[in-house]
Amino acid sequence: MKCAIVVLTLLFCVKAQYEFPTGFEFGVATASYQIEGAWNDGGKGENIWDRMTHERPDLIEDGSTGDDACRSYYKTEEDVRLLTDLGVDFYRFSISWSRILPNGHANQINQEGIDYYNELINRLIAAEITPFVTMFHWDLPQPLQEIGGWPNPFVADIFVDYANILYKEFGDRVTNWITFNEPAVVCEQGYSTAGKAPAYTQEGIGGYLCAHTLLIAHGKAYRLYYRDYFEEQRGRVGITLDSWMYMPEDEESQEDQDAAERAFQFFLGWYANPIFSEEGDYPEVMKSRIEAQSQEEGFRSSRLPSFTDEEIEIIKGSADFFGLNHYTSEYCTTVTGTEDLPRPSHSADIDAFCYQSPDWESSGSSWLKVYPEGLRKLLVWIKQRYINPEIMITENGFSDRTGTLADCRRVNYFNSYLEQVLLAIHEDEVNVTRYAAWSLMDNFEWRQGYTERFGIHYVDFDDDDKPRTPKMSAFVFKNIIQTGGIDWDYTPEAFPPCDWDN
Ligand SMILES: *[C@@H]1O[C@H](CO)[C@@H](O)[C@H](O)[C@H]1NC(C)=O
Repeated sequence: MKCAIVVLTLLFCVKAQYEFPTGFEFGVATASYQIEGAWNDGGKGENIWDRMTHERPDLIEDGSTGDDACRSYYKTEEDVRLLTDLGVDFYRFSISWSRILPNGHANQINQEGIDYYNELINRLIAAEITPFVTMFHWDLPQPLQEIGGWPNPFVADIFVDYANILYKEFGDRVTNWITFNEPAVVCEQGYSTAGKAPAYTQEGIGGYLCAHTLLIAHGKAYRLYYRDYFEEQRGRVGITLDSWMYMPEDEESQEDQDAAERAFQFFLGWYANPIFSEEGDYPEVMKSRIEAQSQEEGFRSSRLPSFTDEEIEIIKGSADFFGLNHYTSEYCTTVTGTEDLPRPSHSADIDAFCYQSPDWESSGSSWLKVYPEGLRKLLVWIKQRYINPEIMITENGFSDRTGTLADCRRVNYFNSYLEQVLLAIHEDEVNVTRYAAWSLMDNFEWRQGYTERFGIHYVDFDDDDKPRTPKMSAFVFKNIIQTGGIDWDYTPEAFPPCDWDN
């Protein structure tokens, strides 16, 4: 057994070898609808999540709403204390559009909403925590949905008006902006497959129209910052895209490689190519396949709208960093035919069958399986495809359905995924500069309500005060921030050691 001990020591040495570079920043992330509560307090208007949870409780796993959520609207002091205890460099949170502009339009500003975010921002700055602000994390004002929501191209300029208010009110202190969180989820799930509010099912159509408006909105909001605010505020504006790692089922098979590539282009390239590629615009494979499919289906023109040359230029290069949300991976292969898929649909347009390995550890979410190597591979894919952008990991995390405080499986997830980030930085020279754990605390997990918990703090939702308690993962994350490295042997006081063989 001596040999095994030597091997184990060696393994440990290899694992402990890399550290996060000086200047690398750690934070945690949340989203307004998932934590704030106070859905009709402080002058806030109604948004599409208020509407959907109230009118369609059947669409939420436990029939719950975000009406109260974590009550963060009333708890800025306490939340900032949690952040201070963690020792994070930044806090990524989102602003509720309806709290600032109750009817969605900039003609009526809700001062109470401005005051709330000022209080949060000022407390963060006093605690030396950088505010990292997402403008849109899915909670569209209901009145804008009633004019069609994102598929309505006029919503782009309405968003830019909202962004203008945010720069004007908060830009003297907020210099890190994310326009949109996970547009692929907003559009494909919101307008094509009913996975998120407003739960429309315009497959193969709604998602593409939504994305088109959203990309133009993003590009214009970025240009506005550089035209009117940058000189004085000196901040940065980016966007957060979500992506899984898509791998060919059989690495030797050209067909499988093409299938994985199509999955990448139809999910990530859809948004990343117009913004981060050298040539701009949608990926060629999307343009050609959707055009051909549309023709076959009897449409007069492609279901994928096209940008004008001017729009391509507005959008191209419109991000100072690549915000990335990543949780899991998939293997892809070709389908034997698209007969079983709905037509038209995004999935038939892709024509790839992607699935997760049954060998991967599961979580509290059906879609989330643990495959840490996927993060490193994805970072390398992004670096190679998009001219080596600065990448900020704006979400990464693990869910369970127990809420256990001794959350060894979440600790294992963070340790293993962060280890892959270290490898990407040191061995592949990917320029990753920030990492945000999802999430600061358990919260309203969209259509899963309160059944799935992602927090590094436990929230007791049965208690009206929604008290927070740090889980083991909060202490481990704090240790990583403090030491700048991963220590698999670190066991916070008052917790039993994790058994990594299980
Ligand atoms: C990463 O990107 C930032 C911003 O572009 C740049 O200042 C920095 O030098 C880059 N770091 C590396 C290691 O390439």
